[in-house]
Amino acid sequence: MANNTGDNSINQILDLDALPMILQQIHQEVINEYGQGNVADYIPGLAQVDPQQFGMALRTVDEQEFTVGAADTAFSIQSISKLFTLMLALDIVGEELWQRVGREPSGMRFNSLVLLDSEGGIPRNPFINDGAIVVTDVIAARSAAPARRIEEFIASLSGNDSNRIDQQIAAGEQATGFRNVAIANLLKGMGNLEAEVEQTLDCYFKQCAITMSCRDLARAIECLANRGKSHFKSSFHAEKMDKRINSLMLTCGLYDAVGNFAYNVGLPAKSGVGGGIVAVCPGQYTVAVWAPELDRYGNSVLGQLALEKLTSYTHTSIF
Ligand code: DON
Repeated sequence: MANNTGDNSINQILDLDALPMILQQIHQEVINEYGQGNVADYIPGLAQVDPQQFGMALRTVDEQEFTVGAADTAFSIQSISKLFTLMLALDIVGEELWQRVGREPSGMRFNSLVLLDSEGGIPRNPFINDGAIVVTDVIAARSAAPARRIEEFIASLSGNDSNRIDQQIAAGEQATGFRNVAIANLLKGMGNLEAEVEQTLDCYFKQCAITMSCRDLARAIECLANRGKSHFKSSFHAEKMDKRINSLMLTCGLYDAVGNFAYNVGLPAKSGVGGGIVAVCPGQYTVAVWAPELDRYGNSVLGQLALEKLTSYTHTSIF
């Protein structure tokens, strides 16, 4: 299905003519697999989502977009927001960030507290909750209206001003986020939170509650496939960030399921419990997929399957 160069090259280039058919095929195949996971049920705003939905959007670095299914339906981005706050925090403080957060996979559930205490209050990486809360704290401590700043940053990256915080979901996160409250207090107690606990958590809960579609997510991460360049936001200093952030997504983006994901899909990616996954094929394309049924790791079942099929059918795994 992909271009065959005939020279055994492993660097496959996407065959754009074949792509619409490939996406249709993936759609048909994955919807036969509905019913293998459960939607997140810790807040009504997520529990009430129809579990059997699927959307996918792929955007090439030269701005061609291919979609299938519910690619324009907005959903709760949840932990995918951690990718955007990492970009923003790196834009604000640069490499200094790494004095407060590590760059190693944790092998633990995304909201685990186990390592944080024994490792001196330095979270393993910016994508597990403790690390993401530190990243958000960088922004919270340096902004007059931090939640608004994050919201506007994400909206501008996607070129769509309607990508905003869903206040009902944010309130649900606030009401049920006991583990995150514990994490933030532990971080504060260990000297790794600058802003007030409530202020940083307020931002964290709100960033998780931003809603976006697959199409907008694929647009918003364009800089990661395109050497830092984005057609939507020009004032953001994304140069060199693609190498850094893609490596962190590859090693930490799907938490304690990241090894299997790298094995099956072979792209840097970030997931969220709203059922979204974004992934990057450096130099070629970005892709976002959404299907709300989750596996026990909190990652979309059909989303992972669709991405596995995509890189297999197009031979565009980075490996
Ligand atoms: O912090 C939490 O628990 C959620 N609001 C976000 C978690 C999440 O999306 C984890 N990713 N799969």
